[in-house]
Amino acid sequence: MIEVRAIRPGEGALLREVRLAALAANPGAFLETYDEVAADSDDLWAARVGASTGEGDQLILLALEDGRAVGMAGIARDIGQRRRHRATLWGVWLDPACRGRGVGRRLVQEALDWAARAGVRAVYLEVVENEDPSWSLYGRLGFVRREVDPFGAHVDGTFVALERLVLVLDEAA
Ligand SMILES: CC(C)(COP(=O)(O)OP(=O)(O)OC[C@H]1O[C@@H](n2cnc3c(N)ncnc32)[C@H](O)[C@@H]1OP(=O)(O)O)[C@@H](O)C(=O)NCCC(=O)NCCS
Repeated sequence: MIEVRAIRPGEGALLREVRLAALAANPGAFLETYDEVAADSDDLWAARVGASTGEGDQLILLALEDGRAVGMAGIARDIGQRRRHRATLWGVWLDPACRGRGVGRRLVQEALDWAARAGVRAVYLEVVENEDPSWSLYGRLGFVRREVDPFGAHVDGTFVALERLVLVLDEAA
């Protein structure tokens, strides 16, 4: 049974482990590299966790199986009165051994539920163009493709196109 819950203070090492596992397993799916993230200090991981328990403007969800973090999803609200209606989803990942059982969807749905409760109106994210698993997940949750940036990432000397997706939670002004 895989549990999905908000990260708790003191879980910096757990977050580091799952984020590095994601970057090692699926380096092409994310904009940060393993080496960049591996260099982050323990204090930085602790600060990230402290800001991401869902009580403020950020949330990180963990998927846990027998105490081991096997997946994660992050969501961060924009700052400032005129931008607070927006949030960005990031870092959605599930250990390959745990995929295809609805856990990825649970992670994203819980992040969206948190955003809706906080009054967020529109949720954005960027995905690598034509990436089928993530498009299946987000498309079925109601995200639509807004634009493609052909120069979204630069990987090993080659540009990688990124699609910007948006889910409007509440269009009312
Ligand atoms: C994307 C990811 C999180 C999905 O996790 P998951 O737990 O396997 O997904 P779920 O089981 O919840 O499936 C969600 C939906 O996506 C579809 N899906 C999942 N994997 C798929 C695949 N490989 N190909 C096509 N569709 C797929 C499922 O059919 C499901 O839709 P349905 O319930 O309507 O049938 C996982 O594949 C992953 O970590 N990929 C690598 C990292 C990544 O691409 N992250 C997103 C970057 S923002």
